[in-house]
Amino acid sequence: MNVGYTANMNQNHLDLKGAVNFGSFYTPEHLVDLVYNIIKKNAPDNERYIILDTSCGYGGFLRGEKSIGADIDKQAIQFARNNSYSVYFNHNSLLNISRKQYNLSKDEKLIIVGNPPYNDTTSIIRKDIKEKSCLKDDDVKARDLGISFLRSYNKLESDYVCVLHPLSYLIKKTNFNCLRLFTNNYRLTDSVVFSSGEFSATSKTTQFPVIAAFYERNLCGMNYNYIENYKFKTIDNKIFSIKNYDTIGNYASKYPNHKQVSQDETVAFFYTMRDINALKRAATFLDKETYNTVRITRNTLPYYCYADVLKDYTPHIPYYFGNNDIIIDNDAFLEIKNLFIQRSVEKHPQLCGIIEQKKYNNADIEIGKYFESLLGEHYMD
Ligand SMILES: C[S@@+](CC[C@H](N)C(=O)[O-])C[C@H]1O[C@@H](n2cnc3c(N)ncnc32)[C@H](O)[C@@H]1O
Repeated sequence: MNVGYTANMNQNHLDLKGAVNFGSFYTPEHLVDLVYNIIKKNAPDNERYIILDTSCGYGGFLRGEKSIGADIDKQAIQFARNNSYSVYFNHNSLLNISRKQYNLSKDEKLIIVGNPPYNDTTSIIRKDIKEKSCLKDDDVKARDLGISFLRSYNKLESDYVCVLHPLSYLIKKTNFNCLRLFTNNYRLTDSVVFSSGEFSATSKTTQFPVIAAFYERNLCGMNYNYIENYKFKTIDNKIFSIKNYDTIGNYASKYPNHKQVSQDETVAFFYTMRDINALKRAATFLDKETYNTVRITRNTLPYYCYADVLKDYTPHIPYYFGNNDIIIDNDAFLEIKNLFIQRSVEKHPQLCGIIEQKKYNNADIEIGKYFESLLGEHYMD
């Protein structure tokens, strides 16, 4: 039974600055439905669950006979209280985390739902909120608020967790490692990946993949290998597994490498390559070294030409690969490496003297075919 109210409203009481500070971009109703469809499919329906959203905003995720919401934002909670029968708490959900906080006993079956704030805590603009949001139990402290929230679900010993969060929490190894306290006890058993563009307020920026993830509390938990092999399904029924793609990091440095590469060996500089979305926005070859540049040697140069050319093909790469490392089919690339070099030198004449090149016809056609084959069914026309 749905005793809550519908979630098709934005965080109207906050201006953009306030929304950024709280990480408050409320969830459209069709995504709340998506979460409940996943729960229906996966949680045994002979059990009675309590639904809890510890970052509930106006309470858009709260459905069911017994549901509890909490939020640090007083006005949001006031609004929520006026509009539904759920029980609400106005508090910082990352501090003194325990079932007791919500008057829940150890035995009650719990499902945590919601869309926890995801933002880098260093991006919070308002000082008072920044100070408040820094107060966290030591064992959930993390640079990203969303990671802290996932860890808090483990402390609450929720039987199931079905929340929206950036896919990068799972597929980026450094993030995954930060989640250890959570991943030791939870396993991803069902999910749907969709674009951040589904949240209207953020659709103007580069779209990134968000996952509606269903986790089961499980003594085995999951390791990174589990995620690498996991078959992610998108909202349009595309299936991908990150294990199926080789990445450029296996052949060339993605990050500043001045400790490994001497100045003498260096022939050019490239901007740090965090992931495909970062490459979309960032510069590629640079004339000068900065704290953000990678040193390129004669041997590694073809790989940076590859990344430089891939940047032009990003409109053909779907949003769900946006947080992946730069993907490559190394054997196929090596066969036509000179075409990539030619294309890149045309764009950056300063590379001319560094690498020998011949003039090839049809370079664009061959490169185009390479990317079509690399992406297969994921190639976007
Ligand atoms: C992305 S919004 C989600 C709101 C709602 N669940 C929805 O999806 O429509 C994130 C919410 O987290 C709240 N929040 C941020 N930090 C918090 C904290 N430490 N404790 C509790 N709530 C917090 C914000 O005020 C905001 O309402």
